[in-house]
Amino acid sequence: MNALDPIARDGLLYLSAADVERAVGSERTLFVEAVEAALRAQAADDVVQPLKPYLRRPDRPHPTDRIIAMPAYVGGEVHLSGIKWIGSAHDNQEVRGLPRASAVIVLNDADSAYPVAVMDGSVVSAWRTAAVSALACRHLAPEGRRLAILGTGLLARTHLSLLCETWGRPEAVEVHDVSPRQAESFARWAREEHGVTVTVHDDAAGCLRNADVILVVTTAPGPWIPAEWVPRGSLFLNVSLADPMPDVVLASDKVVVDCYEQVMRPGKLLHTMAQQGTFGPERCHADLSQLVTGARPGREKPEETIFFNPIGQAVGDIACSAAVYRRAVENGVGTRLER
Ligand SMILES: NC(=O)c1ccc[n+]([C@@H]2O[C@H](COP(=O)([O-])OP(=O)(O)OC[C@H]3O[C@@H](n4cnc5c(N)ncnc54)[C@H](O)[C@@H]3O)[C@@H](O)[C@H]2O)c1
Repeated sequence: MNALDPIARDGLLYLSAADVERAVGSERTLFVEAVEAALRAQAADDVVQPLKPYLRRPDRPHPTDRIIAMPAYVGGEVHLSGIKWIGSAHDNQEVRGLPRASAVIVLNDADSAYPVAVMDGSVVSAWRTAAVSALACRHLAPEGRRLAILGTGLLARTHLSLLCETWGRPEAVEVHDVSPRQAESFARWAREEHGVTVTVHDDAAGCLRNADVILVVTTAPGPWIPAEWVPRGSLFLNVSLADPMPDVVLASDKVVVDCYEQVMRPGKLLHTMAQQGTFGPERCHADLSQLVTGARPGREKPEETIFFNPIGQAVGDIACSAAVYRRAVENGVGTRLER
């Protein structure tokens, strides 16, 4: 009998955001292990991940105003199905005093297909995204550890926390945000939480000048970062997807994605470049699962400039939420809901 059967039969486990935090505690590397397990399953062709639909309203054209449905099955040691339903409004903070993103995740037993858990997905999503970047750093970052961050919201925090643990403490952290208040609040948090001193820049070009790793996590609506700002030999983590101009991709020696098929969606940078004839599969060095399994090499030379473009995969969310769910069951965290 599958270990999940009794729960699937009797009801569901509900995990609030606080429950998710409680179940994980300080062991955030759990998210890196979970994403790695998902990528190994993906490399073994043991996942199912339909293209994610974006629900957008024509009167809300900002690229981060949408709700995305992200279903997946992850095989291997995860062996669970599920869906993340993630909403985002770029002006939530400013207009409503709320975080930009909100999400719920439903996990289904892979065999009976019964739902076994419903949990807040915003915490899982933020850590999953940082875990993907942590793995990208493991395979693609240069020797130096000077980190530049553009955009200092929630993802900047989960990234700095996870990178401190898995990549090593940065030698320098330089940040820029269109909101100086946000940048200062991030700098205070980084000092209190991690004992890291952060330099706040008014200009983005100056922020990037000495970077080994560049993390872009803004809500900018379109391209604004030119290649001339990106130092040779650096790793560019294009997490917020919309910010770099095409010449950043063209000037890179390697382009690595998380999932080629999902990255090539209309409106996304690499798809637009493909339509213009400046990008195609031959320019894509690898996907992250190939780096994790060693099927393709990561960084080979110190002077390589590498562009990493993670669209965000449901398989990572399902693997991470499965790990949280199992931890919650072990530790008696959460509320049982009757079916
Ligand atoms: N690729 C993925 O897997 C993935 C996953 C989750 C989120 N994201 C994206 O990451 C981005 C950041 O998410 P978040 O939750 O941290 O958002 P957030 O709203 O908490 O923070 C965004 C920050 O960017 C700043 N900003 C906006 N425009 C800027 C600009 N031009 N220059 C500098 N700073 C700017 C804002 O002031 C804000 O502080 C979003 O665009 C989101 O869609 C990507």
